[in-house]
Amino acid sequence: MTNAINIMGKAPALKALLRQVKIIAGTDANVLISGETGTGKELIALTLQQKSRRAGEAFISLNCAALSPDLLESTLFGYLKGAFTNAEENTSGIIAAADGGTLFLDEINSLSLVLQAKLLRFIQNGEYLPVGSVKTLTADVRIIAATNAPMLEIIELGQFRADLYYRLSVFEVDMPPLRERREDISLLLHYYLRYFASKYNLRTTVLKKDAIQALEKYAWPGNVRELRNLCENLTISKVSRMIGIGDLPANYLQTGHKCQVLYLELPEEGLDWYQLEQSLLNQALKLADGNVSDAADLLGLSRHALYYRIKKWELMDS
Ligand SMILES: Nc1ncnc2c1ncn2[C@@H]1O[C@H](COP(=O)(O)OP(=O)(O)OP(=O)(O)O)[C@@H](O)[C@H]1O
Ligand SMILES: [Mg+2]
Repeated sequence: MTNAINIMGKAPALKALLRQVKIIAGTDANVLISGETGTGKELIALTLQQKSRRAGEAFISLNCAALSPDLLESTLFGYLKGAFTNAEENTSGIIAAADGGTLFLDEINSLSLVLQAKLLRFIQNGEYLPVGSVKTLTADVRIIAATNAPMLEIIELGQFRADLYYRLSVFEVDMPPLRERREDISLLLHYYLRYFASKYNLRTTVLKKDAIQALEKYAWPGNVRELRNLCENLTISKVSRMIGIGDLPANYLQTGHKCQVLYLELPEEGLDWYQLEQSLLNQALKLADGNVSDAADLLGLSRHALYYRIKKWELMDS
């Protein structure tokens, strides 16, 4: 859940993104936000709504991965009495509730193909059918969607309709992971340590220089959400208000061996990306004795995403 609307950050990538968001907000076009978990996708969706002409209207957030396809359909479009076993009364859906406002569809990549077709129809002409009804209804809703899967890859795999993707992504916003905007780490740490001190009415926890340096080097796989949780834990769990490197949980310290997420510094002379990708894929397949699931785990990819790359580079015979 997002409950701070202040978007903190001074990294050039984030500043450029916020300028883009300001422009997009005024257009009323659909927006697709991509980015790793915890990078602030929902926060940006909320900002888009607050800076748009729909600001005073509803903002409804729905996670497409959290409900079964049937439940998601009746939640979105509503249903008529008797449409299914527990349908005791005519019930309107979230689209009706969001009429005039904005609907944030999180994890849109997990939407079933059947629902993709229904959502496409709604986006194209504002029309939808409640479950069990033959009477078309209309609503005016701006759709902001978020994905944490690469859309072009799932389109290639036949799991997502290209036409829907183009309708959703009139504008695309790609949230940079925290490890790619390291200058924001100390800023966010100070912000959230103050925030939680004031929330719990405790003295503000202070990080010593060595602790800040360790956290600036850390890879933050959970991005800003992970940082926020760390600040909350440090605020409520520490008797000491001065945190040195030794007071940090062990996983925040670089071991020098295997990093949580590897951070590679790009050599000044650049590199050959395609060669690097093929080499890493080959190494992972070799380490995993050709087992695709294990190789995918080693690379932090889904099996589908790895298969796609194996096919692209023709790395295996199958
Ligand atoms: N730039 C930022 N400044 C302050 N807080 C931030 C920033 N970015 C994210 N946060 C906070 O981090 C938490 C995670 O953000 P959010 O829920 O928007 O991430 P998300 O990308 O939607 O994650 P997920 O993919 O897991 O749903 C929230 O509490 C949010 O307020
Ligand atoms: Mg989210």
